[in-house]
Amino acid sequence: MKKTALYAGTFDPPTLAHLDTIERALSICDHLLVCIAENPSKTNFLIPVSKRFELFTELVKDYKNVQVVMTEGLLVDFAKKNQVDFFIRGLRTIDDFEREFAMSIANFELSGIDTVLLLSRPNFRHISSSLVREIHKFKGKIDHLVPIEINNYLKKM
Ligand code: COA
Repeated sequence: MKKTALYAGTFDPPTLAHLDTIERALSICDHLLVCIAENPSKTNFLIPVSKRFELFTELVKDYKNVQVVMTEGLLVDFAKKNQVDFFIRGLRTIDDFEREFAMSIANFELSGIDTVLLLSRPNFRHISSSLVREIHKFKGKIDHLVPIEINNYLKKM
C-alpha cells in the first residue's frame, strides 16, 4: 500500500534543515505533501505565503513524489481530505518535544492520523526560521543555513 505523508510548517523561510527532513521523510513514505500552513501565533512574515509556495515548489522540483500545497484552517481537515497516512515533524532538541507531543496528540484525537517524529541531524539542530530572519534583518550571512535559491531571493529583498 502506498503511503502519503504530510510535512507542514510555516517555512518562513525554508531552511536546509527543512530540506533534510524532507529527504529523510522520503525514505519512509511514497508520496510527501509539503504543506505551507498557518500558525495563528505567527503574523509578521518575512516572505508572503504565495512566494513561499513558489520558492518551495522550486526547491523540490527534482523530487517527483513531493508536492507543495497550501492550506488554511486545521491541518487535520486537509489531511483527511487528502488521505494522508501520517504527519511528519522534525524534532531538534528536547525543547521541541513538549510542543510536538501536544500537537501530535491533538491531531490524533481529531483525525486518528499519527505523527512520525524525525530527529534532526546534529548539524541542523540549531537552525530555525526565526534565527535566519534575525541574521538576515541585520544583513548577516545566511548561506550556510538556507538553500541557495532562498539565499538569492532574500539577498534581492
Ligand atoms: N529543522 C529546522 N527547523 C525546524 C525544524 C527542523 N526539523 N522543525 C521546526 N523547525 C523550526 C521552524 O523553522 C520554525 O522556526 P520559527 O518558529 O523560528 O519560524 C520552528 O522551528 C517551529 O516550527 P514548526 O513547529 O514547524 O512551526 P511552524 O509555525 O512552522 O508550523 C504548523 C506549525 C503550521 C504546522 C501548525 O501551527 C499547524 O498545524 N497549523 C495549522 C492549524 C492547525 O491545525 N492547528 C492545530 C495544531 S494541533
